[in-house]
Amino acid sequence: LDIRLALTGFGNVGQGLATLLDRYGDTYLKRYGVALRLSGVADRAGAAVSLAGLDPVSLLEAKEQAGTVSAHSSGVPGLHGSDFLDRAQAHILVEAASTNFDDAEPGWSYVCGALERKMDVVLASKGSLALHFRELMENASRRGLQVQYSATVGAPVPSLQIADRALIGSEILAFEGILNGTTHQVLTAMTQGSSYDEGVRQAQEMGIAETDPTLDVDGWDAAAKVAIVANSVFGADLRIGDVDRVGIRGVTAAELAQARESGEAIKLIARAERTEAGVTAWVRPERRPLDDPLGRLRGDAMGIVFFTRPLGAIAATVDPSGESGGISTAMTVLRDVLNLARDRGWTEPHQT
Ligand code: HSE
Repeated sequence: LDIRLALTGFGNVGQGLATLLDRYGDTYLKRYGVALRLSGVADRAGAAVSLAGLDPVSLLEAKEQAGTVSAHSSGVPGLHGSDFLDRAQAHILVEAASTNFDDAEPGWSYVCGALERKMDVVLASKGSLALHFRELMENASRRGLQVQYSATVGAPVPSLQIADRALIGSEILAFEGILNGTTHQVLTAMTQGSSYDEGVRQAQEMGIAETDPTLDVDGWDAAAKVAIVANSVFGADLRIGDVDRVGIRGVTAAELAQARESGEAIKLIARAERTEAGVTAWVRPERRPLDDPLGRLRGDAMGIVFFTRPLGAIAATVDPSGESGGISTAMTVLRDVLNLARDRGWTEPHQT
């Protein structure tokens, strides 16, 4: 079965998706019976569209050589918005434009436009979820459409899958995690003697920093993620601004060294809990023992711990894979696309 994907945004994640479709497209066809085709890809300068499917490698070449997919042989400079969605005629919108927490654009318009056109949505950008979570979910469910967003909450940690499948029936009292890779990399680098600026540069080279890295270091990205996970697992309607937030700019090398001498590490922790008064969430640097599930993590690793009854504390952590941040986030976009295709009955019975 052919599944047409419209991709908005062709930065680290979008290019990672093209790379992975080139790498695994044939495997998915054999294993799951689905041919995932990019019927349209849009970036800031325009788009490329082909209902038969755009060749991922030539898209990557056009981007590298001309800075935009609109320079592709199927490119249309200036094509975007509703016209793009109309022409791409996709089953699924993959929204991967850079995250904007002011008004969630251009992602929000693309997502609403896709739902109006009966397209399911897979999100890699966080703005729409961090500002309009409940409205978005209600809009989709009214139309019988799916919105998947596991790539937005600290890919590749399977936080939402754990909460949704493994903890169904249990009580989730609270959860906490290291949900931002950039700040973790900066803190790790500073612990090893590098400067704060060097740490930020490393994260940028690894392709994990936001286009505007102040979104990472001031805790906005982690705040968005903790709000999104809390909305999903607690049925809350938190917005990014509801999360108490302290970033890592105030953490000094001396504090990191002092923590280390006491057998602890300073991590940017994001936590949400259900209280009598409702769901509360915060992000702040905290000390954790070096043998704690989060305290033991290094580099840009991420993880989450759910505190539950009666199962106890359930942790999932992911050490850096060696692939760039764009590739690993793109892999989690594909995880959502394939799960969505399976839920819709588009795939054939398979082994994972
Ligand atoms: N800037 C984010 C991070 C990218 O550093 O974790 C993934 O959401």
